[in-house]
This record gives sequence, structure tokens and C-alpha cells, in this order.
Amino acid sequence: MCGIVGYIGDGNASDIIIEGLKKLEYRGYDSSGIAIYKNGKIEVHKYKGRIANLEAAVANEHFNSGVGIGHTRWATHGAPSDVNAHPHSNTDHSIAIVHNGIIENYVELREWLIREHGIVFVSETDTEVIAHLIGLYYDGDLVDAVYKAVDKMRGAYGIGVICSKEPDKLIAVRKDSPLVVGLGEGCNFIASDIPALLKHVRSIYLIENNETVVLTKNDVKIYNADRKEVKRDVFHVTWDEDAAEKDGYDHFMLKEIYEQPKGLYETLNRRLDENGMIKLDGISLTKEDLEKFNKVYIVACGTAYHAGLVGKYIIEKLAKIPVEIDVASEFRYRDPFVDDRTLFIAISQSGETLDTLAALREAKNKGARILSVCNVVGSSVARESDDVFYTWAGPEIAVASTKAFTTQLMCMYLIALYMGSTKGILDMDVYHRYIDELKQIPDKLKKVLEQAGNVMEIAKDFYKREQVFFIGRGLDSAISFEGSLKLKEISYINSFAIAAGELKHGTIALIEQGTMVIALATQDRLFEKMLSNIQEVKARGATVIGLAKEGNVDIEQQANKVIYIPDCMDEVTPLLSVVPLQLLSYNIAKLRGCDIDKPKNLAKSVTVE
Ligand code: AGP
Repeated sequence: MCGIVGYIGDGNASDIIIEGLKKLEYRGYDSSGIAIYKNGKIEVHKYKGRIANLEAAVANEHFNSGVGIGHTRWATHGAPSDVNAHPHSNTDHSIAIVHNGIIENYVELREWLIREHGIVFVSETDTEVIAHLIGLYYDGDLVDAVYKAVDKMRGAYGIGVICSKEPDKLIAVRKDSPLVVGLGEGCNFIASDIPALLKHVRSIYLIENNETVVLTKNDVKIYNADRKEVKRDVFHVTWDEDAAEKDGYDHFMLKEIYEQPKGLYETLNRRLDENGMIKLDGISLTKEDLEKFNKVYIVACGTAYHAGLVGKYIIEKLAKIPVEIDVASEFRYRDPFVDDRTLFIAISQSGETLDTLAALREAKNKGARILSVCNVVGSSVARESDDVFYTWAGPEIAVASTKAFTTQLMCMYLIALYMGSTKGILDMDVYHRYIDELKQIPDKLKKVLEQAGNVMEIAKDFYKREQVFFIGRGLDSAISFEGSLKLKEISYINSFAIAAGELKHGTIALIEQGTMVIALATQDRLFEKMLSNIQEVKARGATVIGLAKEGNVDIEQQANKVIYIPDCMDEVTPLLSVVPLQLLSYNIAKLRGCDIDKPKNLAKSVTVE
């Protein structure tokens, strides 16, 4: 969580940094601040609330400075407040730092600094210890002081440091929190993520763990933990700044919902040859590899986990191999049975989710082969995997994940089809039927999006409810979980998803007159069973919105309102059925006046445990 930006050059550092922070607001947005070098001193300005507060507060400052660092925060230690906001400084305010991550031994370090060195702390943050450590070790050499401070720290950190006594330098360090360096002409940048830099540069260094970067306006040097200089290839960003803009839509979430046909088209077609065969390009999963695996483990968090639920279903069906699935935060603490015959699939949009990354490392240590499904090129998950199956969603900015989810689903189908066909256990007629169905999805999705008006009308009827249940069977159950997560995270409605057949084992006790139930009934072979489940909740007074394939009109007898998706093979419905649920959540949140792209308490990239 949190976003950092730093600049050194002849430009206006405060404007450049604030502009960059706005592009990172998705990483956290409860407070923000900047530290700017000016006339031999470092000035720090930091405020609780959105970056707009910071921007307004410094609008008339005229820093005229080309050196600074900035931060947008998602609170971990200490509530959002002016004093807990970053940057933090040492006692004489000669050093300022910004930090993304968590210092695990900060209590110990804080007590030591107070006891042995009489340091007085002003904030409740873990970060402040870093500023004091660097201050303590500073003896005319900032790089040396940073190395000594880092030696004492345990945890995850991407940090940016400036010092009034060495204003020609900006220093950054990375361990388990993302950090990139932007290479300009007569200026250089640091940031937690590429979009913060796109207005200025396309040439990037991706910084690795335990590396320290020393930036001056004309030079960037990267050093490893042993203080040896390391060389890095320049990464050239191919997508443009517009991809990270709203483009006339009211919210990034809505824009990203509408980008799904394109994302799915790209994710599918970049992997297909002219005969409809899946090409893996950079991925080296051979027939021998696949025959060696006796198990697949899928691990992810949140929405990505829901893509994994569909992945489990489809890989077991098409590739005939047992698939276990777990949320990453649970996987790593239960000594899972993983060995060198396990294919471990990590799914992550950002590629920086700490739980997923830690689970991946755990599986790697146990000998598993790591395949990740990732959206962000060069992210930690991507770099630490043996192979990466990229989603072609483009940058996803809204906290609520939409296009990353459907493109992750597409990857799951492709991986399952590849595994089944390469192992020779999937009939090739069946294979091609699936490919044909997948090829039709982008156009069918456009039809789903044409129903946005109908979904808005439904939202108007229900947006004041405070409790919603999602039910479904089979693949619909996985999408119920995703629909429910989407609704609760952006509208704050208490929503709950359950496999429809499970209702009668307890949860049905909560259904009463007027309870809202969203019933997914897109699976032909389970359709009648779902109609019975709808009847059960209706009999107890529920108001039901049904979701079914076109043609399955019987649902109109049971449900109060129905949303249809185009007819398709049962197995590929998740690619379509989730989209009306995304639109429903979006519209409900909008009618409730919620801050859709930046829901409370959340951040896009969850880099804490
Ligand atoms: C989705 O809407 C969420 N905000 C969240 O559940 C997200 O999917 C999860 O944190 C995983 O993120 P990742 O895909 O970047 O790893």
C-alpha cells in the first residue's frame, strides 16, 4: 500500500511529485505529503485526506526547487492524520523520507532509539524510525547512513530519502515493496508504479529487492546489498498515458468495465495461432512437464481468488488433474502439501500483493513450478515466477477489479485447454468448440454492456437495501462470490454469497420479507435446481433478481426482475455473467453517493500482510 514519488532535476519538483502522486492514489488515499529541498532546508507539507488537500495547501508556496519526495498513504500504523502522514523527518529535520511497506521490528527500534539516543518521536508510525535511524548514522555520507539504517530494519520497504546537506542526491531502497526509477533528460525519478512517471519518461529501471539507488539529476546508479554497483537493462514502456486516464467516463471503474471486450480479445488472440492452437511464446511448459505434475495449486487473494475458483473447475474438467485452491494469506501458514510435482499458479493483477508473493515464495522453496497470471509486466510476482501468463487488460486503476478479473478468467480457460490438449487427454473437437466459444465472448460481452440501462433501472429499485444475498450453483457460485465482493467493496452494502444448495443448511434463516437475493442461474444443467432455490427464498419473502441465459424464460415466473446474458456454453458463462453484476454494483454505489474508484479503507495494491 501507499505510493511514493521522488524527483531530482531542474523542473518544478512539487508540481511533478503531486501530479505523480495523483496517479498513485489508487495505492492509498487517506493522507499525503511532500518534502522539498529549499534554500538549504527541507520543507515538509502533509495533510490528512485526499491529495487535493495537499495541492490546495501548497498552491501558493512557489518552492522553485528541483529536489523532493512525496507520499500518498494507506494507514497501517497510526490513524490517518497530518502528523502520521509522510514524509517523516529526523530530529533536526535535515533528512526526510517516504516509505511504502511495514517495518516489522519498529517497536524494538523505536524503544532503542528512545532509550539509547534520547530520540523524541512525534508520530505513531513505523516509518518515523527510518528517518531517525538515517539521522543517527549520518556522518557526511547519506548513502552510507541509508545502508546502515537498512541493516537494522526488518520488513518491507520502498523508501525515498533526501537530505538538506546533500541536495544533489535522491536515494531510494527497495525490499518487498515495488520501486521503479524513471530516466529523464537532465532529471530522474522514483515511484512505486509506472503510471506516476508516464507524463515524463518511458525509460524505466525496475529495481530489485535489496537494491539501493542513488539518483542525481544526470545519473542513476544501482547498488546491491554488498554496496557493489549492478547494471540494469532499460525497460521501455509501450502503453501510453491515456490508458491511465478516465477518457470521459465518470469513473475508472466504469471505463474499465467497458474495456473488457478489448481486454478479452487481446488476452485470447495474442495466444492463438491461425489454426486456433494456443501458443505459449515465452512460457516453457512442455508435455513432459505437464505429465510430471500430479497436482495444481492455485493461490490468490480477493477477486483474483475468485478467478482461481473458476480455474479450478475448468482445469479439473479439461486437463483432468486435481486442483487445490487457497487464499494466499491462509496458504502460507498451514504447511500445504506442495513439492516438485506441483504446478503452482499465482493469480494477481498488480503482481505486488504481499500475501500472494509470500505464498509463491513458500511454494518455490518447496520445489513447485511457478506459473503466474499477472497484469503488471515486471511486477514482483511476474519476476519471481518461472513463467508468466500475462493478462492484456491494460492498466487497471479503480480499486474494484473488473477487467483484470475477466482477463484472468480467459487465462484460466487457455491454461486448462493448453494442459488438456498437450497432455492428449482432451478431444480436439471439444478443444476447438471451446476456442470457438471463447472467440465469440468479446462480441457477446458488448451485447451485455448494451443492457446497462436495464441494470441501472434495477439498481434504482434496490440501492437503499442494506443487505443482499448472492446465490448460485457450480460456476455461478464462483461468480456469486465475486458479485458479492464487488457490491460490498464499493457500495458498503452488507452482502453475502453462498452456494445455493447450502442455503438450507443455515443461512436461509436470514431470509425474510423484502430480503434482496441475486440468483445466478446460467448453468443449463443446474437451471431447474436453481429455480427451486429461488422458490425457497421467495417463499420466505425475498425479492429476487435472476440472472440467466437468453431463452431460459422460465425464470421470469420466479424472479421479480431478470437480467439475461447471451446464450453460450455453460462452462464459459463466468466471462459474461460477472459483467451485469459489476454494472449493478457500480450503479448502486453511484446512487448511494459512494466514492467508487476509491472505496473507504481499501487500496488497490495490498502490500501488507
Ligand atoms: C478487487 O476488487 C479487490 N479490490 C481485491 O480483492 C483484489 O482483487 C486483491 O487485493 C488481489 O489483488 P491482486 O490481483 O493485485 O493481487
